[in-house]
Amino acid sequence: MRLIKNGTLVNENSIAKKDILLDADTIVKIADNINSNDYKDIEIIDATGLHIFPGLIDTHVHFREPGLTEKEDIKHGTMGAVASGITSVFEMPNTNPATLSFDAVNDKCKLAEEKSLTNYSFFIGVSEENLDEVINGDYTDTCGVKLFMGSSTGNMALKDSAQIEYLFENSKVPIVIHSEDDAIIEANSREYMDKYGDNIPFSAHSYIRSDKACYKSTEVAVALAKKYGTRIHIAHLSSAIELELFSNANLDENKNITSEVCVHHLFYENSDFETLGSKIKCNPSIKFEADRDALQKAVSTPLIDTIATDHAPHTIEQKGGTNYFSTPSGIPIIENSLYIVLSLYGKGLISLEQIAEKMAHNPAKIFKIAKRGYVKEGYFADITLVDLNKEWKKDSVISKCGWSPLEGETFKGKVVETIVNGNSVYKNDEF
Ligand code: DOR
Ligand code: ZN
Repeated sequence: MRLIKNGTLVNENSIAKKDILLDADTIVKIADNINSNDYKDIEIIDATGLHIFPGLIDTHVHFREPGLTEKEDIKHGTMGAVASGITSVFEMPNTNPATLSFDAVNDKCKLAEEKSLTNYSFFIGVSEENLDEVINGDYTDTCGVKLFMGSSTGNMALKDSAQIEYLFENSKVPIVIHSEDDAIIEANSREYMDKYGDNIPFSAHSYIRSDKACYKSTEVAVALAKKYGTRIHIAHLSSAIELELFSNANLDENKNITSEVCVHHLFYENSDFETLGSKIKCNPSIKFEADRDALQKAVSTPLIDTIATDHAPHTIEQKGGTNYFSTPSGIPIIENSLYIVLSLYGKGLISLEQIAEKMAHNPAKIFKIAKRGYVKEGYFADITLVDLNKEWKKDSVISKCGWSPLEGETFKGKVVETIVNGNSVYKNDEF
């Protein structure tokens, strides 16, 4: 048995000093004071001065395995995760081969069983060819469906509106949606090509993949979800105007239409292209200061239900080109996620209770993850210990791609230990 002693527990909208007793992979007791002498063979984890969060759940990562492991792999991706307090990940289908069948999901599960430091599940992607398999499948071990309404890295869009409607009408699991309107993006691209030829600056990404492109697509998705009562989760909100499409109601089982924000859209805005250029080219794009500020304001309200990363590494060579169109979109960011959110906490933009809610409780609720996402008796021992006062500098990179837009950044707050299913998988910077 292990006893986490004298920590401050952040859980279910409260912050209180608690002791937590673990037996193998399970939380067996939570109390104001648990006496270690009452148990034999007990190991004590001293959490004096530390805050204890439920292990964070990142429902949006791209770990590139199989097929694209020059960019990232499950081992390094989950190392980055636990260094940022994340104990469960949901991985996206735009790998090679793409995850377009339940057999492909199972193949990924087998890889993860060997390599993952965290809990995991995998999305099945939807295309014109696999619609019936997606609708009729057995989702016992699969977190949901990923729908690209609009093209992004990996070319997996479902474009036919009748097929999209058929999916909304019949899906039994949450549909996570990449929502951007291709026609608007194409028109904007043509305009910029006419103006700049081959020399489109990366900062144009905010204009080309515009807020209107996001809004138009999300408006369609929300209308369809209302028509059919579909459970949808719109990924990576990036603009102020999209927020008006969402409800400010608290998350409960009746809230069918939910939203995700990603840490980079809370952190960067258009002027950051001046220093970071292609490194922060991602889809949907980083938008403008007013958009980032609106997302920062909304993140403490029920307009935004979850915070994720969309961790999407490419090699520095792939990112290093000067041509706007041929440089891939995506940012490696999972190892920084909690730290970006703690920087918002430092500015009073989000509370610790809301961090637990949007990064652990709500992902568990939306995707119906059994016995995770909370620190509760009988639940799995997925736990993150954080020193909120520790100041540190990001001077190394965990991701296999070997670079991060946040190298050199200083942060306040550091994960001291990450426990997954009762095992310490990360402690004092060691894996
Ligand atoms: O920026 C992005 N990168 N957006 C996506 O939709 C996909 C992702 C990737 O896989 O690189
Ligand atoms: Zn993504």
